[in-house]
Amino acid sequence: MSTTVRAAAKINLHLGVGAPREDGFHPLDTVYQAISLYDDVTVSDAGAESLSVAGTPQIDVTGVPTDASNIAVRALAEAPCGGPHHVQITKQIPVAGGMAGGSADGAAALLAHDRLHDLGQPDDVLLAQAARLGSDVPFSLVGGTARGRGRGEVVEPIVDHGTWWWVVVPAAVGLSTPEVYRHFDRLHPDAPAQPAEPTELLAALASGEPVRLARALHNDLQEPAIDLRPELGDLIALGEAEGALRGMVSGSGPTCVFLCDSQPGSIEVVTALSASYDVVLSAIGPVAGAHVVSTREAEWDLR
Ligand code: C5P
Repeated sequence: MSTTVRAAAKINLHLGVGAPREDGFHPLDTVYQAISLYDDVTVSDAGAESLSVAGTPQIDVTGVPTDASNIAVRALAEAPCGGPHHVQITKQIPVAGGMAGGSADGAAALLAHDRLHDLGQPDDVLLAQAARLGSDVPFSLVGGTARGRGRGEVVEPIVDHGTWWWVVVPAAVGLSTPEVYRHFDRLHPDAPAQPAEPTELLAALASGEPVRLARALHNDLQEPAIDLRPELGDLIALGEAEGALRGMVSGSGPTCVFLCDSQPGSIEVVTALSASYDVVLSAIGPVAGAHVVSTREAEWDLR
């Protein structure tokens, strides 16, 4: 048998970061949104313990670990039922891009394993397993638009009355999330313990008005990301000059995302940016969290 689960990329519409805690993590007050770029993870219970990773022509997967350190393999180690399992990951989410591609794979593997073995674990059990895997993994299970607190792992769905059009520009080379957080600490040695709250952003999401949302977008990691990669500032300025309502770094970067006023507006921005950037994608949000897309008998079972 095999089960395939699809999990979406995330962006942070608000990312408030506080001074590091004693455990080294930063307290966050964030608003995540799942957008329509997906990784598919298939977990099969036949064969030897193994992992394969495939990209698309636009997504380079050479940076994805194919050993036991891969988050999908670690997810199976968290899960209660033994293997061996084969895991196949097909990636559409930029790698090391600040879009929680690894977290999506971890969440998808947890859910695929649960459904493959018909375990029916309650949501709180899966969410606790997800939190142990990484700060963004619980959100990858939940999807939609949600507020994240703690180190990002305490997730609560929020009201969102919009369908938002995004243009996504990944970078050829990823940025390390810990490095961006460390640079935030260097730039803000006196950061308050409490991260900035997303008050106006919550109202903008409930209004469904793109211009209002554009004004309320906020990312405390944008400054350190641009300081490490100044060319991201040029990209954001270009996208805004070409008609995006607002451009911003996604999470810890280096992917940049652009909020557009409509689908035709997003097509214009894609066309304009494609003249200068190799990979320019479009996506809508919010979309669903990790969900089963197929369950199959293995070929050898059907013979
Ligand atoms: O939780 P996750 O494994 O995704 O975090 C990766 C790294 O990002 C952490 O090791 C830490 O350096 C940094 N991080 C942080 N504060 C957070 C989330 C992540 O400092 N709230």
